[in-house]
Amino acid sequence: MKIKMVRKIIFLAGLVILATALCMAEVWKAPDQEKAREKAKKIVPFIKEYKDDCKINRKICLMDAGISIKDVKDVYFLLDSPIIKKREDHYEPVRFAHKRHAALIQDCSMCHHYRPKDENALETTRCSACHQDSFNPDHPERIGIKAAYHQQCVKCHTAEAKGPVDCKGCHLQKVPDHKDLVKLPDNADPFQVTAECLRCHDTQGEDMLKTAHWLWKGPSPYTTGHRKDIMHGKGTTALNNY
Ligand code: HEC
Ligand code: HEC
Ligand code: HEC
Ligand code: HEC
Ligand code: HEC
Repeated sequence: MKIKMVRKIIFLAGLVILATALCMAEVWKAPDQEKAREKAKKIVPFIKEYKDDCKINRKICLMDAGISIKDVKDVYFLLDSPIIKKREDHYEPVRFAHKRHAALIQDCSMCHHYRPKDENALETTRCSACHQDSFNPDHPERIGIKAAYHQQCVKCHTAEAKGPVDCKGCHLQKVPDHKDLVKLPDNADPFQVTAECLRCHDTQGEDMLKTAHWLWKGPSPYTTGHRKDIMHGKGTTALNNY
């Protein structure tokens, strides 16, 4: 009976958190986030010619041009390129703390490695001005925008041993709006709620049955005197105190 109670509580808590998150998303929108979202949607004109005469000394070129952290206007970006999204769309936009990166790295040229040939163009243009579709026959040396990000971001994180290299460190899974998915009668009882979630989350349900939350027993490395026990818990040796 107690095990069922715990299951009820866990699923009800999940439902409450989900409902709160959905309501909050409708009421308030972070202005920075909205601006970033708008910017991410724009496809910028393709830049055919780039200036490579200062490629080797790009850092010095940028310093000579007086470019510094003061030129960082966008605190953060949501990377959500329509060029990529028309081919594949598995994840939520990637969050990129631009100003934080610029301040930590102190060298714009690490990322803004080329500039357009046009003297009037901005020194630090968007990557998508030069990297768009992959396998562009007119510019075979240029990799596509997805590869440009993956190579640059992951290469540095690996070299520095800082920042995520695992997919989940950068990518959030797309979670569909549960308002339309969950179908329950008015005043549904907890068992009906659980059953409804399990209709789609059956594997998560199976996984749950293998955890300490369900079994009430498992390893207890942080419990004094029971550090080496592998089957400690209310299901075996411990006393239920409520
Ligand atoms: C350091 C951050 C980072 C890591 C780590 C990373 N990615 Fe990405 N990924 C990006 C960025 C940035 C984009 C471009 C997002 C955009 O503009 O839509 C992207 C785009 C993608 C896309 C296309 C967009 C989409 O929503 O479908 C796929 C697929 C993808 N990555 C898969 C992976 C996989 C698989 C891994 C792990 C092997 C991985 N990524 C690791 C940053 C990262
Ligand atoms: C870790 C990589 C990285 C560093 C370091 C970095 N940037 Fe960026 N920056 C980016 C990326 C990625 C974008 C493009 C985002 C997009 O296309 O949506 C960008 C975009 C910009 C833009 C917007 C361009 C436009 O057309 O809207 C400016 C301006 C800029 N960066 C300036 C700077 C300056 C100045 C520095 C150095 C003080 C700097 N950045 C350092 C990665 C970086
Ligand atoms: C003005 C044009 C231009 C801009 C802007 C630009 N690139 Fe590139 N990029 C190129 C060209 C041209 C090449 C291929 C020639 C080469 O590697 O020297 C290239 C190659 C690359 C490569 C593969 C070779 C290498 O250097 O590692 C990566 C990764 C890359 N770019 C990432 C980015 C990212 C990320 C951004 C944005 C922060 C960006 N690029 C902005 C023109 C540009
Ligand atoms: C030249 C090196 C460099 C490049 C390029 C770079 N990063 Fe990072 N990144 C770092 C470092 C260093 C940290 C650790 C910062 C800290 O200590 O919080 C970091 C941390 C992060 C984090 C975790 C902290 C946070 O800001 O949320 C994310 C996410 C991230 N980077 C995404 C990206 C993406 C996406 C790109 C490519 C568009 C990228 N990075 C390119 C150096 C880099
Ligand atoms: C009609 C199908 C359906 C029903 C019913 C459903 N879900 Fe989901 N749920 C999904 C899908 C699809 C995803 C996306 C990720 C995935 O495939 O696991 C998801 C994702 C989630 C996530 C995010 C998981 C993550 O990795 O970020 C949570 C939390 C969640 N559901 C909770 C619930 C709860 C609680 C219930 C019952 C009240 C429920 N879901 C009912 C289809 C459903």
